[in-house]
Amino acid sequence: MHTIKAIYPGTFDPLTNGHLDLIARGAKIVDQLVVAILRNSEKGTPLFTVPERQEMIHEATRGFGNVSVTTFDGLLVDFARQQGAKAVLRGIRAISDYEYEFQMAMMNRKLDPELETLFMMPAEKYTYVSSRLIKGVFQLGGDVTALVPPLVVERLKAKVPERTPPPV
Ligand code: PNS
Repeated sequence: MHTIKAIYPGTFDPLTNGHLDLIARGAKIVDQLVVAILRNSEKGTPLFTVPERQEMIHEATRGFGNVSVTTFDGLLVDFARQQGAKAVLRGIRAISDYEYEFQMAMMNRKLDPELETLFMMPAEKYTYVSSRLIKGVFQLGGDVTALVPPLVVERLKAKVPERTPPPV
């Protein structure tokens, strides 16, 4: 039988409901979905360590029988080949994501023509959600409870000193 294994790579600092929505959609159409956290991210200093991020994703995806979580370093195409994965899953929220995603997909295709990139769109209500905005809003005392899993809210509270919004 033909089984499809896909990699869902990212920084996940931290996991959002948008990521979870995409994981749920991906898990419905592929046989095995591997959420893969990039260890050597060039995105600057992360808020959460890689093991912290891995644990949060692990907890949040417990309910899926075909989703696993791991980490990777180096080229995504090498990791995908090593995993025996035929596809990479990525989410596209808005047109603004498209250019970056297109470049990455084409570069990955150049590096490994056998690896396909699958794009899926998260639920409309998460279109504006990003890890970067979540961190920024939370650090300024904003409420992010509807946008990230409950465990992530707890971890954000433990990591970031409690801040109350300034009086209006
Ligand atoms: O969630 P992100 O930060 O947008 O994810 C970016 C990620 C991890 C998918 C991308 O940076 C990546 O695959 N990095 C690994 C290095 C690599 O393969 N680079 C060449 C692809 S253009």
